[in-house]
Formats: sequence, C-alpha cells, structure tokens
Amino acid sequence: MLTIQSEPFGKTPDGDDVVSYSLTNRNGVRVGLINLGATVTAVNVPDKNGKVANVTLGFNDLDGYLANAPYFGGTCGRYSNRIAKGQFTLDGETYQLATNNDPSHLHGGKVGFNKRVWQHEKVESADHVGVKFTYVSPDGEENYPGQLTVHVTYSLNDANELKIDYEATTDKATVLNLTNHCYWNLAGGEQATIVDNELTLMCDKYLPVDEAGIPIGELAAVAGTPMDFITPHKIGERITEPVNGNGGYDHCWVVNGKIGELRPAAKVVEPQSGRVMEILTTEPGIQFYTGNFLAGTPETGNAVKHGALCLEAQHFPDSPNQPEFPTTVLKPGEVYKQTTVHRFSVVGK
Ligand code: BGC
Repeated sequence: MLTIQSEPFGKTPDGDDVVSYSLTNRNGVRVGLINLGATVTAVNVPDKNGKVANVTLGFNDLDGYLANAPYFGGTCGRYSNRIAKGQFTLDGETYQLATNNDPSHLHGGKVGFNKRVWQHEKVESADHVGVKFTYVSPDGEENYPGQLTVHVTYSLNDANELKIDYEATTDKATVLNLTNHCYWNLAGGEQATIVDNELTLMCDKYLPVDEAGIPIGELAAVAGTPMDFITPHKIGERITEPVNGNGGYDHCWVVNGKIGELRPAAKVVEPQSGRVMEILTTEPGIQFYTGNFLAGTPETGNAVKHGALCLEAQHFPDSPNQPEFPTTVLKPGEVYKQTTVHRFSVVGK
C-alpha cells in the first residue's frame, strides 16, 4: 500500500513553517521530504535480506538543514554546479552572481533554492504518492534575471522508484540548471565509505575541468582513463587519479543517448548489502562527486571523506559561458522540464 503522511518539522528564523512528509510503499521503502529546499531527508530501502536502512545522508533536526553546508538532499538552483567567475551575458547584458565557491558561482549562490521555503501539496494517484513543491524566485534574486516559477514533484511507486519531475517557467530570459543533491551510501551505515561500491556510468565522454572545476570545453573520451565506468569499477580503484577532482571524483559526465529522453545514466551496487541504485534521466549530464569535502564533523553530518557519493543529473557546468554546450537559457513562453528516476533493487538474494 502507498501512504503519505505529514507532520510539523519546526519554524525557520523568519517564522516560516517547515513540514516533513513521509512516503511509503508496500516493500517497506520510506522516503522523507521537507519543504525547506524541497529536500530529501531520508530514503529507507531494503537490503538483500530485507533489512531496511536509510541510504542517504541527512540531519536529525531543522537546525541541521538550515545550515546544511554540504547541500544534503537539497534541490539546487537557480544554477546548480559552477559558473566561471560567477559571470554570464544574456541578451547583451552581463550578470555578476555571487562567487560563493571562490572564484566560481556554485549551486545558486549565497542562498540557493536548497535554503528557500517551498510551498507544498500532496500528490496521490493509484500507482504513486508524492509531494509537489513550488517556489517562485523573484526577478533579481541572487542577481539572476527574471521571475522564475519552479515545481519539483517527488513521487514513489511500488516498483521502488523515486521519481523527480521538474518544471519551470520565467517572465524574462534567464539561465537555470536544477538538480537534486542527495548523498548516497547504500550500505545504510554499515560501511563508512563508498570506495567499495561498484559504479557503472552510461557515459562514453566526460568534461575535463580546470583547477576551478570549470569545464575546459572539450568532451573527452573516458576510454583508457580513470573516468571510464562504462563497465562496472570499484569507485576506490582509481579515486586518487582524476585531474582537478578535489581529492577524488568531482566531474560531469555526458550521458549517452538523446537529451530529453529518459535513459539510464548510472548504476551503483553495494556488494555487502546487495543494494542497487539505478538512475535514469532526461538530462545531458551527470555530476559524480565522491564526498571529497566531507570532513567527519557535525557540519558534514559526521560523514567522513568519501562517506557518500552524489550523482547529480543536470546540464553541464558553466553552460551559460559555453555556447557549444546544450543551452540552459529559458525564455518566456517556454516550459523547462526534467525527469530523473532513482530505482532501488537488490542483487545476490
Ligand atoms: C560539487 C562539489 C561541491 C559539492 C558541495 C557538488 O555538486 O561538484 O564540488 O563541493 O557539490 O556539496
């Protein structure tokens, strides 16, 4: 049976109510969501023996999410990932955004969508339960042009799929790149790091970056490099080798196949528990980040370096400055759409 419940999760310093939702399905999967940042707070899934555990990093209370330096589970925007020097030009006008990840702009600036309070409503149908979050980002917020209305809908079904549908419209040309920033550790607390996880990326190419994490413009073949996950590899096998990976992997891969079509992008297998996560997306890219800045401190939820991994389906970083990349410009009258599915299963039963 699919169920949905909600309860108060506290108030922000500005007095806004934060609500926590819990979605469950007949297999014991439970997804936690809050409307601060349209954030995923928990994803509980069974292992090969049926033992259910949380496989995504989170905090215990609202204070944790109000600080949330690592962006645990949040919806990143208006532009997730990096924009070089925080600058771009659109329709002849140059915009200067916050360089909050010096010298670059990261995940929407000082107060990104992951820190905003979203409106929320339940979504229920015969085959899924979910929550639709809505945020209206004013013209000029974080110096981005145009009032942008964003909807993010999470839904869970009995096939153990967590689906994220994004939709956005604007009243003035703007740039946007939306993603979800869950940190996954499929061992559900049984393994401190993800180095033994086996990863497949359905990606023949990736984007090499400079020291600031900005793509140099080339779509490079992964073959023969530590970025080759066309067949499964243990993440730890070559984790010290990537160039400008911030101490691990922190790059965007180019998802094979057609942009706009829901197609497989990534698969993670945790051998001990047998838990498997597959990601399908309509997006051109997927950022694979191995939690290199997790520091074992309360600020990082006590997670250690490589204590979790992120697989963020999105457009390419710095697209507003790289005309060869698929466009991230949204114009009035257009509807931005993205779908990303996380499918959970087990092997070795
Ligand atoms: C980026 C990392 C960054 C992290 C912040 C990721 O999307 O690729 O470089 O440190 O977000 O939590």
